[in-house]
Amino acid sequence: MNKAVILAGGQGKRMKADMPKPLFKVLGEPMLEWVISACENAEISDICVIKGFMGEMIDEYLGGRYTTALQAERLGTGHAVMQAIPFLKNDESGNTLILCGDAPFIDAETIKNALEMHIKDNNAVTVITAELDAPKGYGRIIRTENGISGIVEEKDADEEQKKITEVNSGAYWFRTADLIKLLGRITNNNAQNEYYLTDTIALAIADGSNAGAFKSENAEIIRGANDRKDLLELNTYARLEVIGKHLVNGVEFICTDGVVIERDVEIGAGTQILPGTIIRSKSVIGKNCKIGPNTVVENCILGDNVNLHAVQAFSSTIEEGVAIGPYVHLRPDTVIKKGAKIGDFVELKNSTIGEKTAIAHLAYIGDSDVGKRANIGCGTVTVNYDGIEKSRCVIGDNSFIGCNTNLIAPVTLGKAVYTAAGTTVTRDVPDYALAIDRGVLNIKEGYTLRKLDKKIGQSHIAKKK
Ligand code: UD1
Ligand code: CA
Repeated sequence: MNKAVILAGGQGKRMKADMPKPLFKVLGEPMLEWVISACENAEISDICVIKGFMGEMIDEYLGGRYTTALQAERLGTGHAVMQAIPFLKNDESGNTLILCGDAPFIDAETIKNALEMHIKDNNAVTVITAELDAPKGYGRIIRTENGISGIVEEKDADEEQKKITEVNSGAYWFRTADLIKLLGRITNNNAQNEYYLTDTIALAIADGSNAGAFKSENAEIIRGANDRKDLLELNTYARLEVIGKHLVNGVEFICTDGVVIERDVEIGAGTQILPGTIIRSKSVIGKNCKIGPNTVVENCILGDNVNLHAVQAFSSTIEEGVAIGPYVHLRPDTVIKKGAKIGDFVELKNSTIGEKTAIAHLAYIGDSDVGKRANIGCGTVTVNYDGIEKSRCVIGDNSFIGCNTNLIAPVTLGKAVYTAAGTTVTRDVPDYALAIDRGVLNIKEGYTLRKLDKKIGQSHIAKKK
């Protein structure tokens, strides 16, 4: 069976952070995750990740999804792969893909096409390469009349070799059984005193095996990040690639300033994305929506014709024709049904809002089920937390909740219930009832005049008269 080894031992000193480099994020996902998903998309799920610097963070991130092996000392790429020998020996029958955990743009197509060539040419090893205008720093591919003879590292290359523009991406296919044998023979006899994985090519050829190079048309597969500037460049590249894909799908962008859309997001044709909009995770957005400006959508499902203006929405479902904003916070597990309207300064959490219900301004609805065509007045608060437990409120269809109503959960209001402004509801209210809770209103005539008199004297009152 085919498998993969991903090298993720690097520290990335120039990042100036206490974190393994492959965990730095490109469009919201660690570079390591991009590499893993390229494997998964190429139908390779048997993966061993080589960890080194702060390896426990790699384990924590992976959460047991894949095998890991520790490279305790950083002695080179060949030495890193040696740490995977027990994993390789589990099944020596197929081929092994080696990838770098900090080169996020390797893709499934390249992986599959390289494997096809690897098998067709009966190679012991096939290195994935690309042409670069600026090849400095990379291993150079030494081509011969009928193939390749090896890879020379920048530091070991002579002036002629340095002129070669075809470089090693750091990704390879090996016949697993050959890889195990070749790893046993590489030495650290080179400029960096490292065990170079690249030496396996010349060793395989010396054995009489075939070695080949698969040149990728897309040089981006090589891109990695050595410092924060590189990381920003990777993000910029990925961001524009994703936006480009949505443009082809019929999504409208007038200006992409501050627009960040993660790679798994789906957006329907005719939807307009306005500046300052960040759409994250596996969000799905319908057709003809208007999202933004200044909106965050994370892991949400939106129907068609949804309008979000200055909204922060997390793990929520928003059905067709809903308009929200400005300045609205949707916390997780909120469901807003068709045609509802949510206006400014509203917070919703773990609640269902029924069809065509309006919450026009300044309200908190948490842990609640609100029916259809209800009207929630300004300042309504579901008092869902007593300091120990959270409880639910139910508001029936066609209810009209007056301004500044407090609903002390758990409480159920039936169909078409009215509450008077300022009411605190502490018991269930049956269908068609009015809940009104009013203290006696005292009006003390002349109060202000008496108060002012004390402060600034009789003259003021005289003047007023
Ligand atoms: C390596 C290749 C070079 C290629 C380049 C592509 C070798 C000898 N050279 O160069 O031909 O053009 O990648 O980027 O293989 N790593 C470990 N443990 C180690 C050393 C490295 O896990 O002891 C990991 C790194 O974290 C990284 C990958 O291996 O993910 C590549 O290492 P890096 O130091 O970037 O390799 P280069 O010397 O740049
Ligand atoms: Ca490198």
